[in-house]
Amino acid sequence: MKKTILIGTVSLLASVGLAYAGAAEGKEVYTAKCQSCHGANGEGKAAIAKMFNVTLPPLASKEVQAKSDAELKKVILAGKGKMKPIAGVSEKQADDVVAFVRTLK
Ligand code: HEC
Repeated sequence: MKKTILIGTVSLLASVGLAYAGAAEGKEVYTAKCQSCHGANGEGKAAIAKMFNVTLPPLASKEVQAKSDAELKKVILAGKGKMKPIAGVSEKQADDVVAFVRTLK
């Protein structure tokens, strides 16, 4: 009986762990998929802004941070304006990247 409860608790914790968006994991995805345009700290690369003929909003800015997690996730997975959807980013990785973006403010 006790054993059953223990196993139940462990698997519950494991599933919570998997669903939790991690900033550390997000940083790895960010470095691989976003940094080339947005810079290490989300400041935005001037050359990219010029190339796309846009102002790259710093990811730490109020403007970007005011967006909801869902909106940020959508930018990553569906693209926005001149930013194309980022290929090879899973739903979970997108959540992780959003968690990382939240650490920039
Ligand atoms: C190829 C270059 C490029 C890459 C790679 C890229 N972005 Fe962008 N991103 C842009 C450009 C250009 C814009 C501005 C779009 C516009 O204003 O039309 C932008 C805008 C944004 C915005 C602001 C959107 C808004 O509503 O103002 C966010 C947030 C963002 N990017 C996050 C990310 C994240 C997170 C990643 C990695 C998963 C990423 N970007 C990868 C080029 C890129």
